[in-house]
Amino acid sequence: MTEQTATGPLTTEAGAPVADNQNSETAGRGGPVLVQDQLLIEKLAHFNRERIPERVVHARGAGAYGTFTVTADVTRWTRAKFLSEVGKETETFLRFSTVAGNLGSADAVRDPRGFALKFYTEDGNYDLVGNNTPVFFIKDAIKFPDFIHTQKRDPYTGSQEADNVWDFWGLSPESTHQVTWLFGDRGIPASYRHMHGFGSHTFQWTNEAGEVFWVKYHFKTDQGIKNLTQAEADELAGKDPDSHQRDLRESIERGDFPSWTVKVQIMPEADAANYRFNPFDLTKVWPHEDYPLIEIGKLELNRNPENIFAEVEQSIFSPHHFVPGIGPSPDKMLQGRLFGYGDAHRYRVGINADHLPVNRPHATEARTHGRDGFMYDGRHGGAKNYEPNSFGGPVETGRALWQPTTVSGTTQETEAPSHAEDNDFVQAGDLYRLMSEDEKGRLIDNLAGFIADVSRDDIAERAINNFRQADADFGKRLEAAVQALRG
Ligand code: HEM
Repeated sequence: MTEQTATGPLTTEAGAPVADNQNSETAGRGGPVLVQDQLLIEKLAHFNRERIPERVVHARGAGAYGTFTVTADVTRWTRAKFLSEVGKETETFLRFSTVAGNLGSADAVRDPRGFALKFYTEDGNYDLVGNNTPVFFIKDAIKFPDFIHTQKRDPYTGSQEADNVWDFWGLSPESTHQVTWLFGDRGIPASYRHMHGFGSHTFQWTNEAGEVFWVKYHFKTDQGIKNLTQAEADELAGKDPDSHQRDLRESIERGDFPSWTVKVQIMPEADAANYRFNPFDLTKVWPHEDYPLIEIGKLELNRNPENIFAEVEQSIFSPHHFVPGIGPSPDKMLQGRLFGYGDAHRYRVGINADHLPVNRPHATEARTHGRDGFMYDGRHGGAKNYEPNSFGGPVETGRALWQPTTVSGTTQETEAPSHAEDNDFVQAGDLYRLMSEDEKGRLIDNLAGFIADVSRDDIAERAINNFRQADADFGKRLEAAVQALRG
């Protein structure tokens, strides 16, 4: 814990000494309070403005600083400098979160966990804004606001409603894989330390020669996977809503630094067109037998933030924060996210959010001609604010961060293309069949418990039908379990 460092008298925000911080100034003893008591006014006004808008999703979270260390040579796939030699270390900041709950909600809930990682590299900050799941509910960003509306509070009841959740999932069969994952054992991690992380999307890596590779990131917990059952989570969420946040802080405080082994799957560019699944479809994994995991590094978290508001609430992560050698793929979800986050940050934290201590580059500096706006700190001094200029300002490099991709066709609203083995159910069925008998039982119970709360039979039936299409046994057992609960 940090001690208060300032010495000397208590002051106002403008630095004037405060004589009395216990009693406001009145007109006569017991009389009304005076406008000239500017200390009182300043305190009340500052207090009224303590909150900024919470994140529209992933509002509830905890973060820590750490170190990423390269453990294998990856230079044949990417020219990213922070990955350029074995043993190289890069400072990081990782924010974990839940998705649907508000800022003050409990940690021990069934929900994906955010895994947002900032690498402070010498080429600028690289943000990998992933989850603890390798896939997602939808595959087009245009559906995201509708999807999240069904997870959050209903406009009339003000609560999350099973009707809305299952209506959307039932009508969005591409969600079946992620929903099967979420209601399985890994749907409620015991802590942030005991879960894996995933970049989830496919990204582009490009090497010095300009060759392109498609990459997926996996962060395997070195603490081992540990989960809570629904009953354990319900109890913990009531007893200790901050369970995950406390666990993370306390483990770092006692020097028990959590770590993850970082692995990638690499697909040569030429494989993408004919791969059996669309490699840019976020509802699908690349089975490891097709593209094996390759270990490339170690991530350790070893320093707690000192001020949660400054460093966690105001932290910003954006999928568009790339560095040379890394870029986007044509994944339609990722493409939407390239816009969404920067826009959210400008609204939530402000136009100078990138320059707060937790967000600015730590291993280089930002050299832009962007200026001014709310809370501008004058960091550019008197330097010229345009380019090109003849006064020695920063200049463009002429080298793109990532390689261009080839496109063809006409502009139109299109579904992401399906490859030979693509359908909305195949990988959900594979996941179900991988589970042990006990796991299947818990999955069915968890799903049935929630679907049974749906008020309309057609909505419940449509939801069950998606699981039936993934696997006939899955659908049959789920239908029976829901019927038993609904009577
Ligand atoms: C097109 C789909 C998506 C949109 C439009 C979207 C949008 C957003 C927005 C607006 C925020 C709040 C950002 C802020 O206020 O700082 C956010 C947070 C977040 N999103 Fe998404 N999201 C999408 C999909 C995803 C996916 C697929 C993942 C993971 C694979 C993900 C992971 C996260 C995480 C981890 C955070 C919290 C970041 C933090 O800790 O500050 N999101 N998202």
